[in-house]
Amino acid sequence: MVMTQLTYIRDIARYGFENDKQKLLDVLQQFVEFSFKSKKVNLALQLQSVLDTASQHSTNALTRVEQQGRSRISELSNQPDELVLEKLTSDYTFNHLVGEDRVKEQLAYFVEEHKRSEILKRFDLPVANKVLFYGPSGCGKTLASYVVAGELTKTMVVVNLGGIVSSKLGETSKNLARVFRQAAAENCIIFLDEFDSLGKIRDYDHDHGEMKRVVNTILQLFDYLPQTSMVIAATNQREIIDSALLRRFDLSVKFDFPDQKKILELIELTLKKGRFVFDDKAKLPELVKLSTGLSYYSIQKTLINTVKRSLITQDSSVRTLNAVISTSIWKQLLKEEKKALA
Ligand SMILES: Nc1ncnc2c1ncn2[C@@H]1O[C@H](COP(=O)(O)OP(=O)(O)OP(=O)(O)O)[C@@H](O)[C@H]1O
Ligand SMILES: [Mg+2]
Repeated sequence: MVMTQLTYIRDIARYGFENDKQKLLDVLQQFVEFSFKSKKVNLALQLQSVLDTASQHSTNALTRVEQQGRSRISELSNQPDELVLEKLTSDYTFNHLVGEDRVKEQLAYFVEEHKRSEILKRFDLPVANKVLFYGPSGCGKTLASYVVAGELTKTMVVVNLGGIVSSKLGETSKNLARVFRQAAAENCIIFLDEFDSLGKIRDYDHDHGEMKRVVNTILQLFDYLPQTSMVIAATNQREIIDSALLRRFDLSVKFDFPDQKKILELIELTLKKGRFVFDDKAKLPELVKLSTGLSYYSIQKTLINTVKRSLITQDSSVRTLNAVISTSIWKQLLKEEKKALA
C-alpha cells in the first residue's frame, strides 16, 4: 500500500483509539521518516520530539507502588505515615550509574552477596545488609539506592528522616519500628535518606533524651535486622553521625565528584538516547575541565539545559534529525553554575 500523509494520520488515530501503544509508536516513527523524506522537516522534528517524550515516559526507571501498597505500610497505626516518603520499584541497573571502579565494585559485591545469600548461610556466614552511602550532594547516593533496588528487583521503602521534628520524636521511635517490621514482612529494602538528621536534632533539641531514644531504637533495629532485610542509609554529612550508629554498618561507600574520565562517561550516558552531536568537538576537553569540581547532578543539569536551548534556537530548516549541541551555551551554563555554587 502506498502510504500518504493521510493514511499515516488514519493509522495514528486508529492505534490511538485502540490504545495500542507499540503500534502507535511504530507508525509515528515511520511517519517521522516519511515527513522527513518529503521535506517536511519541521513536522518531522516536532513529531520526533513528541515520540522522544513518549518513549522517555515508557522507560521511566522508577515506578511508585500504588497508593494501596503504600498505605499497607501504615495500616497498623491507622494514621498517615509521615515517615514513609514513598514506596517504589526500580528498573535502574549498574549501567545508569557512573562512578569510580572502587564504588562500582563495592556495590556489585553488596548486591551479589544478597543474590547468593544461600551459599553464605550454608557456611554460617553473615550477609552484609546494612550499607551507608556518603559524600557530597548530587553524586549518586540516591541513584545508587535505586540501582541496588533495581538489581535485586526489590521494592524500596523511602524513609524521610529529614522530616522528623523534635515535637514528634516519641512517635518517631514507634513509627520506625513499625516501618522496619513491615518492610521485613514484605521483603522490602529500607532506604533511610538524610540519615544525618538523627544527629542534627540533638544539636539544638533541649529534650536530648528523646533524640537519644530514637538513636537507640535505630541501634536496636539494626542489631535485630533479619538477614533477609536490607537497610541503605544516605548522608552528605557523615561527620555528625553518632559513632555507635556508624559502627553498625557492614559497608560504607564514599561517593565523590567526578574526575575528567567520569565526566566524559556521564556525557555519554546523558546523551545516549538522543541523536545529539556537539557543534565543535574540539572544545570538549576544555568543557570537561571546566566541569571538574561540580557534581554529577550539576554537570548533567547544565548539559540537558544546553541541549534544550540548542534545540529551541536551532534552525529547523537544517536537513538533519540530529540536534546540534552548542558548546558555547554549555560553557556559559557551566560558568553560571560554578558561580552560583561558589
Ligand atoms: N554517579 C552518577 N552517575 C550518573 N548520574 C548521576 C550520578 N550522580 C548523580 N547523577 C544524576 O544526578 C541526579 C541526582 O543524584 P542523586 O539524587 O543520586 O544525588 P545524591 O548524592 O543523593 O544527592 P543528595 O545528597 O543531595 O541527596 C541523579 O538522578 C542522576 O540523574
Ligand atoms: Mg539523595
